[in-house]
Amino acid sequence: MRIFSGIQPTGAKHFGNYSGGFRQYAATQDLGDAFFCIVDLHSITTPQDPEALREATLDLAAILLATGLDPERSTIFVQSHVSEHAECAWLLGCIATFGELRRMTQFKDKSQGKDSVSAGLFTYPALMAADILLYQTDKVPIGDDQRQHLELTRNLAERFNSRYGETFKLPEAIYPEVGARVMDLQEPDRKMSTTGGTPQGTVGLLDPPDTLRRKVRSAVTDSGKEVRRSEDKPGITNLIDMMAVATGSTPEEIEARYDGTGYGKFKEDVAEAVVALLDPIRLRYGELRANQPVLRAILAEGAAKAELIAAETLDVAYERVGFVAP
Ligand code: TRP
Repeated sequence: MRIFSGIQPTGAKHFGNYSGGFRQYAATQDLGDAFFCIVDLHSITTPQDPEALREATLDLAAILLATGLDPERSTIFVQSHVSEHAECAWLLGCIATFGELRRMTQFKDKSQGKDSVSAGLFTYPALMAADILLYQTDKVPIGDDQRQHLELTRNLAERFNSRYGETFKLPEAIYPEVGARVMDLQEPDRKMSTTGGTPQGTVGLLDPPDTLRRKVRSAVTDSGKEVRRSEDKPGITNLIDMMAVATGSTPEEIEARYDGTGYGKFKEDVAEAVVALLDPIRLRYGELRANQPVLRAILAEGAAKAELIAAETLDVAYERVGFVAP
């Protein structure tokens, strides 16, 4: 079974990215032949500082390894190292229609209120489809916010196949079950986010222990006492979900364990569980990030492996659309 996912190298990574992303990647690498792509081409659909992008790309490679990807089992690579991604995106951009791209809610959200929006932001889903389809992917571990893009990917693959003959496999998504939506600790009605959230309410993946404790302890909760999830208590519900992610339990088990316990003690325990989860990751990240030659060698090896497969698919696709072989 082939697994593929893409992760943008921009924005400081936080607990929500771990819960809905990194954790899934490490788990899915056991299911088969897994490819994890640092999608730098996607990142420049909005303006990026070049030096910051370069740093963030290596940062993300180290985070992927620190959160459990094993380069012996998984292929980890940078999108711009494998030129087939950009080429296949062109083919799929000629299959996608203006109308369907215009309906993408992520495009609508990201372009709203801006007086200048790049054409790349508009055609972004065709590039994402190319990423996935080049690898004849079976499963895509992905956040809920990418549902529409995955649907579009399937539609483009089907359209291409019916127009030119069977070329691309239709992929399926794997969505995280628990902790898919981690909320901001200060404003629990909003998703935790580096761009849209509050700094105090965003639990950084690489925050030191004291910062983690302070943030969790000052999480906004309602005035209730019972450690129980409910729709009108987003603050405590979020902490229960985070505790479940950090300890590998279910939210129900957490509720049962804290039956009759007050919020104060519960928050203390959540803080310690988050520290126990993230501190080893931070330390391991520090070691990996400091060793650039090793990091770059892993990425180079990944790109070489990825390119073999991507080139094979692209050759077939070029042949099908009627390009003369060079
Ligand atoms: N669009 C995805 C996101 O913002 C990132 C991404 C790019 C991706 N290419 C992909 C995810 C391919 C899965 C598969 O999260």
